[in-house]
Amino acid sequence: MDIQEALLKRRSIRKYNDQKISKENINKILEAAMYAPSAMNLQPWQFIVIDDKFVLTETITSIPYAEMLKQSASAILVCGDSNIEKNESWLLQNCSAVIQNILLSAFGLGIGSCWIGIHGMPEIVKNIKDQFQLPDNIIPVALISLGYPDETVTAEERFKTEKIHYNKW
Ligand SMILES: Cc1cc2nc3c(=O)[nH]c(=O)nc-3n(C[C@H](O)[C@H](O)[C@H](O)COP(=O)(O)O)c2cc1C
Repeated sequence: MDIQEALLKRRSIRKYNDQKISKENINKILEAAMYAPSAMNLQPWQFIVIDDKFVLTETITSIPYAEMLKQSASAILVCGDSNIEKNESWLLQNCSAVIQNILLSAFGLGIGSCWIGIHGMPEIVKNIKDQFQLPDNIIPVALISLGYPDETVTAEERFKTEKIHYNKW
């Protein structure tokens, strides 16, 4: 699959079958994640891979709208290290690039994924920090659920010329 095709065809997948994801594929996804661009190439990210069903279910208590974790084989918690990148906006931008790489890498491997927002919701951030015993400098940004798809979500037309401006607004 070429990059343009992957970009246009990837969709959030929230229903998964029982198939587990191999450690090899998780590592491929994390490798893609770590090749994301970052300001000054600081790579200020950390990951927690969740592949234990009990921990996945427990995480629904921390993020009540993350019901898809009941079915997902795994999930990756993407965190930023605020000791390494002190500018919070850049930390979030770096981690967002990481997350997009995760979504696309998973898609390329036939694995469905969904970005579950954490940062920006103080209560959820606190729940996650407590659950995973994150040090103060480790900021949870998002959780990515992963599993082999049990639904088909087709691509929709999103290209809108009215959103494009040349040289000025
Ligand atoms: C910052 C952010 C937070 C999101 N949080 C959630 C979430 O909590 N639950 C969920 O089901 N999807 C979540 N999504 C996924 C979006 O709903 C999804 O990307 C959007 O509807 C577009 O669909 P697509 O991913 O299929 O292109 C989030 C996406 C982003 C970028």
